[in-house]
Amino acid sequence: MAAHWHVLGAGAIGCLFATALHRSGCTTTLLLRDSASKSTSSVLVQRSGAITEIQLPVSATGDNGPITHLLVTTKAYDVRGAVAAVAHRLNSDTRLLLLVNGMGLAEALREDYPTLDIYCGTTTEGAYRIAPLHIRHAGTGQTRIGKPGQTEPAPWFRQWSRALDSCVWDANIERALWLKLAINCVINPLTAIHDCHNGDLARRPELTMEVGRLCDEIAAISNAAGYVNAAADLEQAVTGVIADTANNRSSMLQDVQGGRRTEIDYITGYLLAVAGRCGIAAPRNKSLFERVHNIELNY
Ligand SMILES: NC(=O)c1ccc[n+]([C@@H]2O[C@H](COP(=O)([O-])OP(=O)(O)OC[C@H]3O[C@@H](n4cnc5c(N)ncnc54)[C@H](OP(=O)(O)O)[C@@H]3O)[C@@H](O)[C@H]2O)c1
Repeated sequence: MAAHWHVLGAGAIGCLFATALHRSGCTTTLLLRDSASKSTSSVLVQRSGAITEIQLPVSATGDNGPITHLLVTTKAYDVRGAVAAVAHRLNSDTRLLLLVNGMGLAEALREDYPTLDIYCGTTTEGAYRIAPLHIRHAGTGQTRIGKPGQTEPAPWFRQWSRALDSCVWDANIERALWLKLAINCVINPLTAIHDCHNGDLARRPELTMEVGRLCDEIAAISNAAGYVNAAADLEQAVTGVIADTANNRSSMLQDVQGGRRTEIDYITGYLLAVAGRCGIAAPRNKSLFERVHNIELNY
């Protein structure tokens, strides 16, 4: 029988994955801060001009009733608070899948809830919120899921590979998360600070040079932290993502333009923490970290 997924974080990515799981036959419930006593809500997904309306069960985080499979898709800084709001519904059989940018949160949740079975994922799907429970699916991508030390897919994963066009079990998910983090450490703060599209990082010579210097610094941290493959391919990977997403505004630029908190603490902040532990200097990343925080202070 297909797992019953509860989705915590009913924004762009949460609604996208909840509707995909629902279409594949999973019971999928959205967890809302307040369900206004409704048992279902309609979710609108816009794709290439067409709109699909899907009725999904909803539940308030504070309701009762056990959660067997929990997908967490809040912003990184909301994860711990959001999971705490449903902690009374979790037990040692609960599987939690964290699909959130940045790193460090799985470790924090393992400390908070030592008996929880925690999985991690990363996705290049693109979506944004038009209104509450109304999203636009802007671009298809790949989703990688795994659990450190687990080479074989979890039993529930089969349903995920059916639900999504491109979803793989990654036996080395930590490496995938680190590579994504390393790429984000370059593209996100630079585009947010310079108020530019991703492609400008390849078009403007002064930014292209800064991309190279950042890649060198992050490669040294990656090597010291044991992510040797990520270090070797980093500049090529960053250049490839810049070319593939040339017309995109990074999520950090969108957050800055919208006057919203960014996820810098979980992206560059995590990298700086690792650099500190490994005794590697990271002045360029530190400077970007401070500049993004300064932008946030001036909202
Ligand atoms: N959007 C993309 O294309 C994309 C692609 C790849 C990765 N990601 C990553 O995926 C994560 C989610 O991004 P997103 O764009 O989907 O963000 P989002 O649209 O802002 O959605 C986050 C949702 O979490 C909800 N939430 C926060 N705290 C909650 C709580 N305590 N209880 C219940 N709901 C809570 C928010 O509700 P409120 O609005 O009420 O606060 C919001 O609906 C981020 O880490 C992002 O970097 C996004």
